[in-house]
Amino acid sequence: MEREVAYRKITELRKELEEHNYKYYVLAQPEISDFDFDMKLRELEKLETEFPEFFDPYSPTQRVGSDISKAFEQVEHRYPMLSLNNAYSEGEITDFDSRIKKLIDEDFEYVCELKFDGSSISLLYEKGKLVRAVTRGDGVKGDDVTSNVRTIRSVPLSLRGDDYPEVFEIRGEIVMPFQVFEELNKQRQEAGEPLFANPRNSAAGTLKMQDPSMVASRKLDAYFYSLMGDNLPADGHYENLKKASEWGFKIMDATQLCRNLDEVFSYLHKWDVERHKVPVATDGVVIKVNSRRLQEELGFTAKSPRWAIAYKFKAESAATVLKSVLYQVGRTGAVTPVANLEPVQIAGTVVKRASLHNADIIKNLDLHLNDTVFVEKGGEIIPKITGVDAGKRHPMAQAVEFIEKCPECGTPLVRNEGEAAYYCPNETGCPPQIKGKMEHFAGRKAMDIDGLGQETIELLYNQGLAKSIADFYLLKKEQLAGLERMGEKSAQRILDGLEESKKAPFERVLFALGIRYVGETVAKKLAKELHSIDYLRLKTKEELTEIDEIGERIAESILDFFSKPEHIEMIEFLKKQGLRFQVSEELLSDRTEKLKGLSIVISGTFEQHSRDELKGLIEQNGGKNAGSISKKTSYVLAGENMGPSKLEKADKLGIPIISEEEFLKMLGDS
Ligand code: IVH
Repeated sequence: MEREVAYRKITELRKELEEHNYKYYVLAQPEISDFDFDMKLRELEKLETEFPEFFDPYSPTQRVGSDISKAFEQVEHRYPMLSLNNAYSEGEITDFDSRIKKLIDEDFEYVCELKFDGSSISLLYEKGKLVRAVTRGDGVKGDDVTSNVRTIRSVPLSLRGDDYPEVFEIRGEIVMPFQVFEELNKQRQEAGEPLFANPRNSAAGTLKMQDPSMVASRKLDAYFYSLMGDNLPADGHYENLKKASEWGFKIMDATQLCRNLDEVFSYLHKWDVERHKVPVATDGVVIKVNSRRLQEELGFTAKSPRWAIAYKFKAESAATVLKSVLYQVGRTGAVTPVANLEPVQIAGTVVKRASLHNADIIKNLDLHLNDTVFVEKGGEIIPKITGVDAGKRHPMAQAVEFIEKCPECGTPLVRNEGEAAYYCPNETGCPPQIKGKMEHFAGRKAMDIDGLGQETIELLYNQGLAKSIADFYLLKKEQLAGLERMGEKSAQRILDGLEESKKAPFERVLFALGIRYVGETVAKKLAKELHSIDYLRLKTKEELTEIDEIGERIAESILDFFSKPEHIEMIEFLKKQGLRFQVSEELLSDRTEKLKGLSIVISGTFEQHSRDELKGLIEQNGGKNAGSISKKTSYVLAGENMGPSKLEKADKLGIPIISEEEFLKMLGDS
């Protein structure tokens, strides 16, 4: 394709894709199918690879970042990020209103908004482009998490329209929708990783991850509620939010103007109920004086504005009866107690079960069977027992004692020092553990074996056809085809899936083995640092904990895994089947540490190599390829047509600029 034609096509696709992005993620009104979207995105990716000179960090293809940044840079907020005063009753709202009326004697309006329960963020836009995203931090300075925030689809990278101020900040809340949260916890449970307590913690945790591509996979969302800057379009906060929504920001539809206190109260009553229909966690309503001029007049106390208050919803709870305690055994052998309750309505849903988490919680609550217990929906998700009405207890009631033997296989349970959970140590003989490991191995994020879902594995196990991961690779077509509801076709699909799994990269195989605490991220990290299972096996605890993000708990679990002969046997067997236990040759060859500790930004177009090749060279030689220039940048690798703003920034920070030739010399191959 000719350059000019390509350029036009690229621009067109970028515009079109951003438009669909907006319709899908901000308006929730998609116009094309996911498939069509992906096809267009791929087409754009292809063109951008072919014509690297048209690289643009704001292209929709650049949302999934790839550079791994270590600790985040701290940035001072232009305007401090303060907190709000809380009100827990309507009386306190009336007091708030009276205080304001004493200070100003003119008519004014309020804006009511939902109070999102996530992680606050401040975004800086210059000339309609997102240039920085900073967390709240201590309110004065926060972490620069731009590369992570860029992956959030509902955050506009470039603004729509043309009437936005040249420079402004917009603040909002990064949230993890309930649905995404539940799915994530399900996956973490399967991987034997600790669960997030609520969507707020998982949003905050995700935002601080080191790998933006992991952040992208977590599907965060963002709602905005505050604009700051010198040239905002209107005096009204509400009017400004409306404008922001035109520029492409997601503003909650629930945001409403209220002319008086009565309207504010109606809003509170309405949303106390309706909030359960909102797809993200909210914990109250924020009431703000609409006029920015009046806001300024009212000013701030040391900690919070006088012109706003947060009304907190009451956590909904109910009393019910504890019928029994069940014990579930997971893939890793962890035994979780679950309270079986007399069904009760809380926050719009019927609650029949509540997690009791571990033995300590049962003890602290002093739980007895048939106790009347108080159940609360913590963060509106996982119901928990918050207390017991001991006055209603029958004098002969029996205390709940944590079981001593595995409910599935009868093996005495063990508890590791310093850990709250009890485990069934019978890894190789306890059915839910074995089946759980098999399911995990075949799962989507692990070996992704088509056709080997939970039900099929259950069948295979019960029929004695597969009692371990290794057995999968010995399955015959006739055996599979003979199973209930399975035909030749499905049998072949499974065999093909197993064959295909032999191509899965080492990091996935490592994750699939189901070593406790070795989730996807840790597996990736280990594969990247150590390259092969044999090398991993040789590592001592001290050597393992020297690796970034690998703590003692993970290191001990790895050592424990390799201390078991049956695991070594399984690995040797899988190796013989052709599974990958080391990173691929291409990646391994030519790896050096010549650029160790260096962070290099690539800008412009080059003569000898494409940008992707240069990026590959940096990484292969132990360096880091960063997307934007900061104090931490070691060099800017500049080609032709380096962007003027980059040049200026590099100059300002005194960062050396090197040519392609100089760079290749550093590697010693020019
Ligand atoms: S306005 C001067 N509006 O609540 C503070 N905050 O307790 C202006 N929050 O840090 C904040 N939803 O993270 C505002 N609609 C909303 C909000 C909201 C959630 C969070 C925000 C802030 C905290 C204050």
